[in-house]
Parts: sequence; C-alpha cells; structure tokens
Amino acid sequence: MKKYYFGSNLKMYKTIRETTAYLTSLAELTNDIGREKIELFIIPSYTSLEQASASVDHGLIRLGAQNMCWEEQGQFTGEISPLMLQETEMDLVMIGHSERRHVFGERDEEENRKVKCALDHGLTALLCIGETAEDKQYGVGPEVLRMQLKKGFHEIDSASVGKLWVAYEPVWSIGVNGTPATAEYAEKMHGEIKKCLEEMFGEKSREIPVLYGGSVNPDNGEELIVQPSIDGLFVGRAAWQADRFNELIRNAMKAVGL
Ligand code: PGA
Repeated sequence: MKKYYFGSNLKMYKTIRETTAYLTSLAELTNDIGREKIELFIIPSYTSLEQASASVDHGLIRLGAQNMCWEEQGQFTGEISPLMLQETEMDLVMIGHSERRHVFGERDEEENRKVKCALDHGLTALLCIGETAEDKQYGVGPEVLRMQLKKGFHEIDSASVGKLWVAYEPVWSIGVNGTPATAEYAEKMHGEIKKCLEEMFGEKSREIPVLYGGSVNPDNGEELIVQPSIDGLFVGRAAWQADRFNELIRNAMKAVGL
C-alpha cells in the first residue's frame, strides 16, 4: 500500500506555546488515522523544537528542523549544528526551502553539503526544489529541477535513499502572492523529478517520496494528491490551524481511497 506524506513548515510563525498547542491539537484530531497509511510531519521554528519534541508523540507527528549547518561546530554565528538537532531528538531536516534559496541566497553547493551532513548524522533530509517564474517562462523548469537534484544529491550513495525526501515547490506558487500549480503541471514536473531520481539511484529511487508544495489549500489538495507521481502534500498557510489541516488530510485520504 502506498503511504502518503502530509507535512507543514511553520516558517517564522508561532511562538513556543502556540506551537505546542497546535501539535497537541493536531495529534488529537488525527490520532485515529493509521500511521501505516500516512506520515504526518511538522517543521517548527528552532526555538520551539525542544518543547515541541517533549510534548508530542513522535509516532503520531514526526518533527523536523527548518535548516541546518553542514558542520558540527565552529565559527558559524547564527547557525544550528546537526548535534544540536540530535539533542532535541529531531530526525528530519528540511534543506533548501525556497525562502532559504531566494531570500537568504543559499546555493545548490551548500544544500549538497547540508544533505551530506544530515545523512552522516542519521537525519532524514527533505530537499526542496523548484523553478522560478522566469525559468518557467523560458521553458527550462525541468532543467532547473534536474540541476537542483543532481547538485543537491551529488555524491550521495544509493544506500542512503531511505533517508531522502524531496519537496517540489515552484517558487512562483509559494506564499500569499503565489499561484498554485495546476494538478497537470505538478504531475508533469513530478514525472521529471522521478525520472531524474531514477537516473541517479536506479530502482531504489522509488523509495524517495516526492511531495508537492506551494499554495496547497482545501480546494486543490484532492486533485493534487490523486496524481500518480505525487506522494504527498507539503502545506504552508492552509495547515497552520490544526482543524483545517486535519480536514485537508482527511479529504485527501478520501480522494485516494484510504
Ligand atoms: P504555502 O507555503 O502553502 O503557504 O504557499 C508552502 C511552503 O513554503 O512550503
């Protein structure tokens, strides 16, 4: 049975107290859903991680960090080390979110160092990729995605694929000014991503879930999740109220017959 992934990055929203209340409520609302069917994960702010980790059953909601440095320690002011994430019992880290790439200028080479470091520390790496509106306009979306994958996963052994996740989030689709991708467009790009992953890792690449993100909402969640190459939904704004996210998940599950 195919497992579906549902997750949310809380970005720079929610205080520690708001985060723990949100997680408690989300765990309660979804605890009857068998976790063999879905993987539910939330990525809170760094300052919330310790209390979030202590307040939630990790079997119900997996927690992750929004970013990580590629070194264990050193002169990297403002960065967070993989050892610090391990201390808060994180086993998932998001790497290369669109806002990291486009607001903070991160490059594929850095994302690759972070992916390698995450794997070296037993963390699952969720690599986010996506083309800009300009890339799309020039028809080079697939090439950009391939480059982000090939650089981001450069020198990663196929033995590690069990700890790799990908989120496809077109830059033009994210946030309040974003336009969600149509289901057809998202499916086409997911197909390109899966083709590239297969070239890189062979048959084992099928173990890598590829999630769609970018203005997922209650109106488009179902048509996206039914696409054969979409393995999950990575939701921002529409997930930040536990009851709304629970409803979106249940509607999506119904749409795929779970
Ligand atoms: P959004 O955010 O759903 O609010 O567009 C998506 C994301 O940045 O992951």
